[in-house]
Amino acid sequence: MTKPDAGTNLLDFEPAAQTFYDDVVAGLSRPERSLPCKYFYDERGSKLFEQICQLDEYYLTRTELSIMRRHAGQMAEQIGRGVMLVEYGSGSSIKTRILLDHLADPVAYVPVDISRDHLQQSADDLHRHYPDLEVLPVCADFTEDFELPVSRREPTHDAVYFPGSTIGNFQPQAAQAMLRRIVRLCGCGGGLLIGIDLQKDARTLEAAYDDSQGVTAQFNLNLLRRINRELDGDIRVQDFRHLARYNEALGRIEIYLVSRCDQTIRIGDHAFDLAEGETIHTENSHKYTIDGFADLAAAAGLTLRRHWTDPQDRFAVLHLAILK
Ligand code: TRP
Repeated sequence: MTKPDAGTNLLDFEPAAQTFYDDVVAGLSRPERSLPCKYFYDERGSKLFEQICQLDEYYLTRTELSIMRRHAGQMAEQIGRGVMLVEYGSGSSIKTRILLDHLADPVAYVPVDISRDHLQQSADDLHRHYPDLEVLPVCADFTEDFELPVSRREPTHDAVYFPGSTIGNFQPQAAQAMLRRIVRLCGCGGGLLIGIDLQKDARTLEAAYDDSQGVTAQFNLNLLRRINRELDGDIRVQDFRHLARYNEALGRIEIYLVSRCDQTIRIGDHAFDLAEGETIHTENSHKYTIDGFADLAAAAGLTLRRHWTDPQDRFAVLHLAILK
């Protein structure tokens, strides 16, 4: 499905509203209720997430940014000249610009994001900032197949930039499937520059996902608001609360919406009875060690070439290569 668009040309694989509805109903019908995290990022969700990234407790963005500032030259050298750089995420972030500023003669920049309006806006912004760089946004769910656009100039190779430790939001098995998809997308000679959050004490982690200003809570609850807005739901958002806890054994932060009372929620033709204290699982954020992630990636066909961390070893950026 390709729709022409004003401004920067945008390739559109946006999922239909029906998919959202089906995913919500399927998730809420499970014995362990859940909602898919990819739906967090509507316009309001994307804005709230940008606010999260500026919170004191949310060390991830700040730390990744400091690693980028310090080592972008070496990262660009690893990636190489004449690349088509494909970013998983809208690319509105300053990290993208730091990388682009260091790359030698990049052929095109391809941000891939599920949130169409956010994508278009950040692609236009970026294009204004780099008028000589071809910007080719793709609206797609990067957990599914999509095609790369054709650039005016032929790239020497393709590389994926996947910052933000978003890979941590997938179960290790799904993360590995994603990595395999990246290998297929880029092919031999391609590469991956990826940000991962490292394992650390539970207190630091839980504070990062449950900030004192309640922005993360709003971000989580926005998923319910979005269901109300887009799927004709009648959920009383105030009857749910946000919960984040570190599951030490699985090395992951788990995010839930907890029902504050016995209640029935209606979405379209479906009704769900929730007991007081019952949870809806909305997100996991896996924390890795560098070796652990390198093993996962090796099984998908990626070889760790180099990595960079901050002085406190909170976060890491890894460069991996696709070998023949
Ligand atoms: N990729 C982010 C992370 O795992 C997403 C995120 C941050 C998030 N805070 C959140 C997801 C709170 C759900 C709820 O760090």
